[in-house]
Amino acid sequence: MQLKNKDLLGIEQLSIDEILSIIETARSFQEVATRTVKKVPTLRGKTVINLFFESSTRTRTSFEIAGKRLSADVINISQSGSAVEKGESLLDTAKNLEAMGPDIIVCRHKASGAPHILAKHLKSSVINAGDGAHEHPTQALLDMMTILDYKKKIEGLKVAIVGDIAHSRVARSNIIALKKIGAKVTVVGPCSMIPKEVEKLGVKVSHDLCSGIENTDVIMMLRIQKERLGLTPFPTLREYARLYGLNLAKLKSAKKDVTIMHPGPVNRGVEIDPEVADGPYSVILDQVANGVAIRMAVLYLLSGENPGRGVL
Ligand code: CP
Repeated sequence: MQLKNKDLLGIEQLSIDEILSIIETARSFQEVATRTVKKVPTLRGKTVINLFFESSTRTRTSFEIAGKRLSADVINISQSGSAVEKGESLLDTAKNLEAMGPDIIVCRHKASGAPHILAKHLKSSVINAGDGAHEHPTQALLDMMTILDYKKKIEGLKVAIVGDIAHSRVARSNIIALKKIGAKVTVVGPCSMIPKEVEKLGVKVSHDLCSGIENTDVIMMLRIQKERLGLTPFPTLREYARLYGLNLAKLKSAKKDVTIMHPGPVNRGVEIDPEVADGPYSVILDQVANGVAIRMAVLYLLSGENPGRGVL
């Protein structure tokens, strides 16, 4: 299987078949993590540049591990220490890096659309690792994989996404993926954190946590995106935590076998209590583990490496 486009810029561009094929390919790579020597030669001779111009722990590390487990040469570049600090533009930086012959450039940037500009001007494949408040496609893919692990299906599930929907690329990518596959999505949060006309994406809106998560199969909690806020959207964090923080008492509104997700980083005691984040319904660390397999699959499928043969 090959992806239709040379780049992965958003969930929007993927068909349901492509989403499910990426997850299936990721499952075939999961076994590599259980080996004593966690490495396969699949991308030997390929070069991946991770261009992270915004902070990241999970995405950056998992793209690096994914590339290395596939035997690609992986180079990491962050804004600090790069020539961007001397005034070079993102596009000039990327064109100069491309002159060194990478196969894939992974880009995280605070500006929505930054990876799209690179994709338009570069021959290398570009993967969006999170652009501003726009999209975070590999997060949504690993989230779909995790939901399938626990619920065996996505179609028909009731999913609540809670928190700062307006500034969250994770929310946007997940809404698009969930709706494509046929889940029923409710977004929950204060008015200041719900984008205008979000209903056009096919979701319901609730401003009350307990009714918004009533009878849900899956709850995705989001942190407040302080780095993307102009004005403070809420009087105090304490007030926000009281109304929208998920604790054991509020969790009783959801189904008994509810699955709790969070893309991280978690602000314990704000959007989620430690008893919930570390409790029996939480799959937060499974999401992180699946992130490596999903990024291996995406690197492999975009690398142009002999799509007809087995992946290992
Ligand atoms: N989920 C996520 O994107 O986390 P990082 O910002 O740590 O990469």
